Amino acid sequence: MSDQFSLFDDELQPVELEAPPEGAVLKRPEPPPVAAPVFLTPEEKVALLEELRQPALSCVRCDLSRTRTNVVFGEGNAAAPLVFVGEGPGENEDATGRPFVGRAGKLLDDVLRRNGMTRNHVYICNTVKCRAADMVSGRWNNRPPTPVEIAACNSWLEQQLGIIKPLVIVCLGSPAANTLIHKGFRITAQRGRWFTHSPYAPFTMAVFHPAYILRLQGPSYDAALDTLIEDIGNARKKVIEVKRQLKEAAAVAPPPRNLFD
Ligand code: URA
Repeated sequence: MSDQFSLFDDELQPVELEAPPEGAVLKRPEPPPVAAPVFLTPEEKVALLEELRQPALSCVRCDLSRTRTNVVFGEGNAAAPLVFVGEGPGENEDATGRPFVGRAGKLLDDVLRRNGMTRNHVYICNTVKCRAADMVSGRWNNRPPTPVEIAACNSWLEQQLGIIKPLVIVCLGSPAANTLIHKGFRITAQRGRWFTHSPYAPFTMAVFHPAYILRLQGPSYDAALDTLIEDIGNARKKVIEVKRQLKEAAAVAPPPRNLFD
């Protein structure tokens, strides 16, 4: 088991076992079907993400593939401890193949900068990799991806997160929170809270989507932006806290006496 997981052993609660009935034959329980956590170097993560990107670029698992210009796979630091997951590409992202390059992306960059981070510190991707939009009066209008589209795309996201193995995931808006935290997630009531049940990262939080903030005005805009800056600052602090705990746990762990200890 890698150090990354040893921190969470402390959280396992002892289980009270019932005494078996007199004369019962004790049977060893089957171990749960969980794959052993694999430690990947940053170089291996880069290579595996690239290997995953290639088939994703020609994905036709849903109808969004018919109208997209580019698949927006995701980009950033493959070994980042902090991953942002947005809703899905808009017009600019569809045109360039890069996530968060429009106005919402500029706001996200600014919020990262105000927290001492750049895109090089994090990885950014989306719940769906192709633009969801409807043609209305001769124009493409963005719309939220449907549950069917999100489900069709989910395995790309799951595989990305499985390679990166971040310490913290930040869901930008409710489609990502509904996919990665729980169905029926309510951003206004539940943003900023930590969730610890995800198989993809020890800590997950949802925050306001930058595009939602851009639709606000005046004091509502200022308040929502301050909230986003604070939430993302807390995500950075959580990464620092978890990394420190992992280092401390590694320092107290006795060195192995032989290969099988
Ligand atoms: N909004 C998103 O959710 N994702 C992007 O990549 C751009 C805008």
